[in-house]
Amino acid sequence: MRTNDAKTRLIPAADIKEAHVPSTSAYNELVAQAEADHDGYWSRLAREFLSWRTPFTQGLDDSQAPFFKWFEDGTLNVSYNCLDRHVESGLGDKTALIFEADDGQVTRINYRALLERTCRLANALKARGVQKGDRVVIYMSMSIEGVVAMQACARIGATHSVVFGGFSAQSLRDRIHDAAAVMVITADEQVRGGKQLPLKAIVDEAIALGGCESVTNVLVYQRSGAAIGWNAARDRWLHEEMQDQPATCEPEWVGAEHPLFVLYTSGSTGKPKGVQHASGGYLLHAALTSQWTFDLKPDDVFWCTADIGWVTGHTYITYGPLALGATEVVFEGVPTYPDAGRFWKMIQDHRVSIFYTAPTAIRSLIKAAESNETVHPRRYDLSSLRILGSVGEPINPAAWEWYHQHVGGGRCPIVDTFWQTETGGHMITPLPGATPLVPGSCTLPFPGIAAAIVDETGNDVPNGQGGILVVKKPWPSMIRTIWGDPERFKSSYFPAELKGFYLAGDGAIRDADTGYFTITGRIDDVLNVSGHRMGTMEIESALVSCTALVAEAAVVGRPDDTTGEAICAFVVLKGARPSGDEARKIATELRNWVAKEIGPIAKPKDIRFGDNLPKTRSGKIMRRLLRSVAKGETVTQDISTLENPAVLEQLAQSN
Ligand code: WT7
Repeated sequence: MRTNDAKTRLIPAADIKEAHVPSTSAYNELVAQAEADHDGYWSRLAREFLSWRTPFTQGLDDSQAPFFKWFEDGTLNVSYNCLDRHVESGLGDKTALIFEADDGQVTRINYRALLERTCRLANALKARGVQKGDRVVIYMSMSIEGVVAMQACARIGATHSVVFGGFSAQSLRDRIHDAAAVMVITADEQVRGGKQLPLKAIVDEAIALGGCESVTNVLVYQRSGAAIGWNAARDRWLHEEMQDQPATCEPEWVGAEHPLFVLYTSGSTGKPKGVQHASGGYLLHAALTSQWTFDLKPDDVFWCTADIGWVTGHTYITYGPLALGATEVVFEGVPTYPDAGRFWKMIQDHRVSIFYTAPTAIRSLIKAAESNETVHPRRYDLSSLRILGSVGEPINPAAWEWYHQHVGGGRCPIVDTFWQTETGGHMITPLPGATPLVPGSCTLPFPGIAAAIVDETGNDVPNGQGGILVVKKPWPSMIRTIWGDPERFKSSYFPAELKGFYLAGDGAIRDADTGYFTITGRIDDVLNVSGHRMGTMEIESALVSCTALVAEAAVVGRPDDTTGEAICAFVVLKGARPSGDEARKIATELRNWVAKEIGPIAKPKDIRFGDNLPKTRSGKIMRRLLRSVAKGETVTQDISTLENPAVLEQLAQSN
């Protein structure tokens, strides 16, 4: 069935003039080169795509596997590669960023000005004592300053850790603490969807929670001008810090393995993992995939709608496109403000040619367009578009078709890019001029990425049969370790039974005819809600930390038409099981509690109360059963080992 589907729906690769990877045979040739000489292939590209201060003499060093190193004796500077070298080659006047604020105001900044601003901030950081190797937490809205802050850290060899502006004070505190950051860069407020939301106040709250004694300076970008609390010993205005600093700053030349950033992401335990990336290998894949996957060329206007708080914003806003000297849009707001035509209007206004967004956004805009013709993409001139991209979660074929037809006018290939925070850049993705497309499939591995599907013991499974997604060979932009926890790095990603392969944490299947990959979803306790990764255990710990109310909680995901997955929490209260208005009131209280503990993105959509949770006689929560209950299925599984079958009925009721 799947096989026939693929055959009938294969859409030929786009006929693109001078595509970077122009044909299926060009793709096959690159794959063959990488297979014949993995090290030589990546080393050649590292020389082609990056400017090295000191050339490297060796590609991969696997002597301490799984702590792989790439290009280790080479030195470079990431911000030099993203800024200076373009100015030096005469592109100083080229627009780097087209920033559109929430209210529609547009600010353009060229490469020369972006470099100057980065240098001023880099000097300001140094003046406040930030040194190579120090960690700087960035808790900012989408802004030119956010990109500048990341680039300035890279320039002086400080390791940034961007925390998404939707995370709570508690989450921010945990990340500052884990990274032992010396500085936080934030804004007074962020402006999204016509609303002003606090940032600096949350930083103050996070620091007041304790454990952030390492932070000696908080730099504040003045975005809204709102009144904010001020600690004169610690807080500084970003513009004041920058104004007297020189507009040049010698880059700190770092070894290729120097940690460029740490980015926290959810895993299957309660504690988020600080994914640590290196400088050289990461930047190589950021630049390379920006060019090949999007066929990015000098005249393109690229727009990735992600936030810099997620890895997509790191790789496809701050680093990849800038490493290529491209022009890109940076957007402060949300897709539905002032109305759900905002994305289409911005594509039209800025003549965007490459557009990269998440299935969740597409699905919500489909709904909006179906109920309100004025925000339908056909009402806008989207003729500038030539390539579309999708990221973060599987794109269902119906959303794919709509995106293809109504946004891409039937002529733009869609690159469905599978990757992860840990992989640094695209792993499995079509290349627009080379790969025939199948809606719902991320198609084939990027050349040089040894993706495969195996069973629990690491043996290949035949095409057409599902299994565990692994990567068999190290690649330059892979995670280097978990910040401060090398043991967890090994056990999470290189479990002994998988023969040293990288474990992605997703299930996948390859089509019997085409060999195309389809991702079937996480195989661990990680949920994907609107393309945001959430650990079930994290949400459970947040719920049970509400000790006044909650005795026990279990969290599972269930399919949702718009958000992909939705969070469903099963809760046992300390008091009696509530019903009616009281149940709804407590459910609201618990949602707000989770928002306060983690952030609004972690709020459970469903909260179900029971006198107990379904457990085996040995006391294990039967999550598989809860997943069925969450979906509203009649339970057909064997419940003979279930201690207390009556609770299933209670938990099936929604509030
Ligand atoms: C998880 C990684 C990659 C940047 C954004 C998310 C899921 C990601 C796809 C895709 C199906 C996808 C996987 C993966 N995922 N892209 N194209 N098709 N699933 O990064 O937060 O690290 O999440 O997102 O489950 O493991 P992340």
